Amino acid sequence: MGVKDGFNRTIDYVRIGVTDRCNLRCFYCMPEHGIPYEPRAELLSYEEIVRLLDVLGRLGFTKVRFTGGEPFLRKDFITLLEKSHALSYYRDIRITTNGTLMVKHIEKLRELGIQTINLSLDTLDPERFKQITRRDDFNKVMEAFHTLLENGFYLKINAVVMNGINTGDILPLVALAEQHPVSIRFIEEMPFNGGYKKNEAVFKAGDILNTIRQTYPGIREKTGKHGDTSTNYAIDGFQGDVGIIPAFSRTFCNTCNRLRITPKGEIKTCLYDGGVFSIRDFMRSGVSDQDLAEKFKELIRLKPKDGFEAEQGKQQSTVRKESMSTIGG
Ligand code: GTP
Ligand code: 5AD
Ligand code: SF4
Repeated sequence: MGVKDGFNRTIDYVRIGVTDRCNLRCFYCMPEHGIPYEPRAELLSYEEIVRLLDVLGRLGFTKVRFTGGEPFLRKDFITLLEKSHALSYYRDIRITTNGTLMVKHIEKLRELGIQTINLSLDTLDPERFKQITRRDDFNKVMEAFHTLLENGFYLKINAVVMNGINTGDILPLVALAEQHPVSIRFIEEMPFNGGYKKNEAVFKAGDILNTIRQTYPGIREKTGKHGDTSTNYAIDGFQGDVGIIPAFSRTFCNTCNRLRITPKGEIKTCLYDGGVFSIRDFMRSGVSDQDLAEKFKELIRLKPKDGFEAEQGKQQSTVRKESMSTIGG
């Protein structure tokens, strides 16, 4: 099921940002001094999130991803996972995390049937990690990486490719998929970094593929799953695979299946729109579940064709310095 949009796409995947806070300061996401965080009362409560998930589950949504900021930074995040799991619409709950705060929760994640974790890691060089994230937490992320693998989780590694910064890390990261059954996904950098202007042109999907192909000429495209952001590639002799996410070029919008809810409860029907509706304020005005369901259907019907149309439609007046941590990724 799910809800059809105006372009006959079925929307059945919701991404929820549970906090705008983060313990890292990745420069493609935030300025060094961080961003002004929202007061807690501005955020959706767990009860509110679970209510929205319930409404969406009844509309046929089957996939939920929790993001942030860093989701494990929000107090009692595990409680939210438990409540979401109890709803029964979402069998495999997904999480995108920087991995620094999660090792102690791994047993619990397994109990909740969580199988896949998307882990952000842009380099295998501790010094460059420090340069990119402005924090010295490389070892914590690697500990999460190994512990998750030992515990049977499937890992997708998200590496943002920054022109002039970490293109030299592409091949070492690719090699990780030779030794481990993981998916290494290289992401084109997007302009959601809290307002910082950069001079370098985006290192595009084609540039990433060419870089890999020079060392691995036998790399070949795999057949994709519907709704995938990444185009995935196999390399002979590898345990894992390699993916490329054209997040900036936006070539996958025609199969988009997603809806976003930001930490403050704004609905984004596209990553590139400026937020189209406050479902939080609507909910707090005392509406029924039926009203919420109708509102979701109406918003989804108006989902833009692609990320370019969404960007154009963004209100010129809201020159918000968007950070990925306030959007939810
Ligand atoms: P899977 O569900 O495992 O396929 O992951 P995902 O790619 O949907 O989610 P993840 O949180 O791992 O995001 C990986 C990268 O893709 C991040 O940089 C996201 O911002 C980007 N991304 C996810 N969804 C979209 C989207 O709808 N449009 C664009 N342009 N980028 C997206
Ligand atoms: N461009 C591309 N990807 C980004 N992410 C965060 N900021 C950006 C950006 N400016 C990625 C993180 C995380 C995912 C949710 O989004 O690496 O894995
Ligand atoms: Fe934090 Fe993720 Fe943003 Fe990095 S990309 S600052 S880990 S929210």
